Amino acid sequence: MLLGVVNLPHVIWFRVKTHSIYPISGKRKPWSCRTEYVDGYACCENQPMDSSKQMQAPWLGTAMARIEADYQRSADTHLIALPLPAFAARGIDFYLKDESTHPTGSLKHRLARSLFLYALCNGLIHEGSTIVEASSGSTAVSEAYFARLLGLPFVAVMPRSTSPEKIAQIELYGGRCELVDSALHVYEAARQIASENGGHYMDQFTYAERATDWRGNNNIAESMFSQMLHERFAIPRWIVVGAGTGGTSATIGRYMRFQKHHGAQCQLAVADPVGSVFSAYHRTGNTSLTGPGSSIEGIGRPRVEASFIRSVIDRMVDVDNTDSLTAMQTLSNLLGRKVGPSTGTNFYAMLVLAQEMVKCGEQGSILSLLCDSGERYLPTYYNTGWVQDKMGCCVTSQQKIDGLMLP
Ligand SMILES: Cc1ncc(COP(=O)(O)O)c(C=O)c1O
Repeated sequence: MLLGVVNLPHVIWFRVKTHSIYPISGKRKPWSCRTEYVDGYACCENQPMDSSKQMQAPWLGTAMARIEADYQRSADTHLIALPLPAFAARGIDFYLKDESTHPTGSLKHRLARSLFLYALCNGLIHEGSTIVEASSGSTAVSEAYFARLLGLPFVAVMPRSTSPEKIAQIELYGGRCELVDSALHVYEAARQIASENGGHYMDQFTYAERATDWRGNNNIAESMFSQMLHERFAIPRWIVVGAGTGGTSATIGRYMRFQKHHGAQCQLAVADPVGSVFSAYHRTGNTSLTGPGSSIEGIGRPRVEASFIRSVIDRMVDVDNTDSLTAMQTLSNLLGRKVGPSTGTNFYAMLVLAQEMVKCGEQGSILSLLCDSGERYLPTYYNTGWVQDKMGCCVTSQQKIDGLMLP
């Protein structure tokens, strides 16, 4: 419903939760911004003009309340038990937490919410702030969603190779996309655009690890462990994730220690695609490493990122591109739905670890993430011609994965 500002009450109170009442609008603004009520909140679609100090407190309250309400409307993501009978017979169970079901389609929905809350609570973004982010796509999609929720302009700086579907999604949420030639250029370009516009560079690669509350607060790790409670191996032997910022692995690794789950019986592995420096950094501790970067969208970086916390990761598993994509296809066939390429990387690493468990006579569960759906990658990773052209032939990988699937 669209309303003009003329008849807006001075302050409107809106009950979000049983015990919390938040103001939804401050003083009437002297400018005529198209104002829309979304779930009881005034949502300005034009860039606000008044950012005086007096206006910040009510705006901040409204912004926090909108994010809170959005969270309240959301459900937790499912934990899927992946049936692999030959492994189950050897006492090894596979699970995937389905992060594709977030409103913006990937695990980055969690990170975007955390980054906005972090920036709001640190006084870094205000009414009218332009939000700028360097991304390989998924974070930018999710941040564009939250920027729109708060009525803030959003600019995503991404490599030119980013999938057209992600670009379209960012634009659908009202964001602007700036494409650069290499993944190594996104950081500086984003910083520059933010400074030229007086905006805020979110900088997920620096802040991801500290924006998320690793002690709990329904973070991804707490949710995983509680969803496993009634399984035959409730504490997983391995948790396997990819790393883009490194934020997800940092949250899980810290939480495992905080809850005293971590030890020989429960460890964290990061699946790293070729071209990424994370694996070499994990081995050497050399923060100045650079590399060509990854061909698997969302994971693997050309430089060491501040949010990648090496000390909480027990094991790196290096994964070739064709192995990731063949595993992506294999897993999609098993599930009857398409998963994204980074989920293929995860699945490949799960199989490697499962084979090692078989060899050692170990039993237990292996848990990983279904990071996003394959629908975003139909013209690229699901296009045989594109794969042949960019990654090469997958025949050897298919043989390798067929072998890994047999315990
Ligand atoms: C699409 C995608 N983006 C990003 C990530 C990495 O997340 P983070 O930035 O928390 O390291 C993953 C992890 O698997 C992913 O699949």
